[in-house]
Amino acid sequence: MANLLITGGAGFIGSHTCLALLLAGHRLVVLDNFANSRPEALRRVAELAALEPLQARGCGDWATADQRLLVHQGDVRARQDLDPLFAAEPIDGVLHFAGLKAVAESIAQPLAYWDVNVAGSVCLLQAMAAGGCRTLVFSSSATLYGHPEQVPIPEEAPIRPINPYGQTKAAVEQLLADVAASQPAWRIARLRYFNPVAAHPSGRLGEDPHGMPSNIFPLISQVAMGLRPVLEVFGSDWPTADGTGVRDYIHVMDLAEGHSATLALLLAEAPQLLTLNLGSGQGHSVLDLVNAFAAASGQPIPIRLSARRAGDSAASIADPGAAERRLGWRTRRGLAEICRDGWAWQQANPQGYGA
Ligand code: WQD
Repeated sequence: MANLLITGGAGFIGSHTCLALLLAGHRLVVLDNFANSRPEALRRVAELAALEPLQARGCGDWATADQRLLVHQGDVRARQDLDPLFAAEPIDGVLHFAGLKAVAESIAQPLAYWDVNVAGSVCLLQAMAAGGCRTLVFSSSATLYGHPEQVPIPEEAPIRPINPYGQTKAAVEQLLADVAASQPAWRIARLRYFNPVAAHPSGRLGEDPHGMPSNIFPLISQVAMGLRPVLEVFGSDWPTADGTGVRDYIHVMDLAEGHSATLALLLAEAPQLLTLNLGSGQGHSVLDLVNAFAAASGQPIPIRLSARRAGDSAASIADPGAAERRLGWRTRRGLAEICRDGWAWQQANPQGYGA
């Protein structure tokens, strides 16, 4: 059992990973500014982990009665929010999810993305070093590959981000490589997610984008729910089997379990810099996804074929071999389960976690 700091633990991937880590027996301290998440997600994590009722700790902080989950409202860019967490108790490792993650938004607001994603990571690493903690799992992204030369994409593929969001992920990856080279005591994993989708099968946790979603899975869910009239399909002339974009969709619970396996490896092995793709290794087109979601939901999903979206590529699929070899982990949930669980979340939470 380890004592872990989870930044951004109330977010989509963070909350599902918190559940996996609690079920694996760890104790969690969560720091989240709730800019793009809600405290309710963590209350439900506690519920699903069958933890004791909650105890308020003042100023938005709270903990479960057994102290296995502590929640602090704060910002990774603020040392005054970070330092007390490392001073209060020994932190064995950090999983760093806090960050902004929408490609289109990053193009419109690059300063915000460099501030939160890069300056926030710098501040976290400084607080970790000052607090004597040198074990970190970083939430990276396949976006940094840009337009891949080859598919499936191995970790050795060129890093060629094509938008500010991808640039910030590449910048933090470089920072982590520099830190690992400067001080061999660091244990660092950089996990490059492909397309995280779906939800916990209970329907109690899921993706709750604030405002208009930019990525396809919440959009399809909302069309199936009748909250949106139609799904725009960006491009039907790609060099793919059916002309629509192909992606490697990974169930968020598979992703969460991948994080738990990565943490176990870092804690057990000698200091290292580990870089892994987390994906299924299987590609599905937009039309594959639409048909699978219609089958899972029993709902029609009207589509409108439209022009390609700027910045998109035809196909992005992981070569997942390194993660399987190093972690003994691979995805276990396929497209039908992805759509079943995503629909269960959407149906049970039409307004997400609520106001
Ligand atoms: C998937 C496919 C679109 C919306 C993004 C981020 C990436 C990662 C995952 C964090 C593409 C098509 C989409 C729509 C559509 N996030 N599409 N109509 O762009 O592969 O990756 O999310 O790490 O960083 O870039 O995901 O869901 O936007 O698109 O046809 O309304 O669906 O063209 O082929 P993407 P996406």
